[in-house]
Amino acid sequence: MLEGKLYIVGVGPGHHDHMTYRAKQVIEESDTIVGYETYVNIVQDLIEGKDVYRYAMTQEVERAHQCIDLAKSGKIVSLVSSGDPGIYGMAGLIYEILAESDWDPKNGLPVEIIPGISALNSCASIIGSPLMTDFAVLSMSDLLVPWEIIVKRVEAAAQGDFVIVIYNPSSKKRIHQLQDTIKILLKYRKPTTPVAIIKGAFRDSQTVVLTDLENLTNHSDKLGMITTVIVGNSSTYNYKDLMINPRGYTSKYNLQEQENPKLKV
Ligand SMILES: C[S@@+](CC[C@H](N)C(=O)[O-])C[C@H]1O[C@@H](n2cnc3c(N)ncnc32)[C@H](O)[C@@H]1O
Repeated sequence: MLEGKLYIVGVGPGHHDHMTYRAKQVIEESDTIVGYETYVNIVQDLIEGKDVYRYAMTQEVERAHQCIDLAKSGKIVSLVSSGDPGIYGMAGLIYEILAESDWDPKNGLPVEIIPGISALNSCASIIGSPLMTDFAVLSMSDLLVPWEIIVKRVEAAAQGDFVIVIYNPSSKKRIHQLQDTIKILLKYRKPTTPVAIIKGAFRDSQTVVLTDLENLTNHSDKLGMITTVIVGNSSTYNYKDLMINPRGYTSKYNLQEQENPKLKV
């Protein structure tokens, strides 16, 4: 039997400069590329002459099976996924399908995940240093997770004073989820808590809005399928166009002392 391989490749936020060397290497090595059409477009100039399977959104199960079948038939397949494939990406579904079919990771079909820069760290880098202390990541999508469970997680993250990164904040059909989340957050956080809305990070269409919790919904035109929202915790502050989450050094040191800063007593 031919020995194929399945790579599950994170292509980063959407620009080549933010794709890893290894991601480019395995895409070049592959003879077959599978992915949601927007992600395939991101790697368009690397895939000339290859067999390319473009999928519309919501065909994930079909896409996953096709990749597994192609790799089993001897193809070197790259399944491209935005950001990191292990964060709300395709890695989980592939492993779930393989696990259900009693796949042996040591001797069965070779599978390798190529990590990528996720929306959370690409978006964070654009607006400063918002993720310097503990943070939680929540997705507002209730397609696969019941809304009651998401509400519990929002409540816990809000109560725990985590900085909160929100993926899939809203879509044309999904409006109330972010509004309900803001109401929960306002039970625990000041209305002036800094919020950043980053749309299309590192893409030509990139937009960034710095606002606060009570004004977040005034920017609904910036929310959508490629937007990430970052909500500060009780110590987050804005400095000019940046969001800063202090790591805690100011409680220990005078940061203006350049030589041997002494511990504060
Ligand atoms: C299904 S999740 C996939 C996340 C991806 N695997 C990752 O690690 O970034 C899709 C969500 O990721 C976020 N996202 C993806 N690309 C983005 C970008 N370029 N700028 C801002 N947010 C992005 C948005 O919140 C979007 O709704």
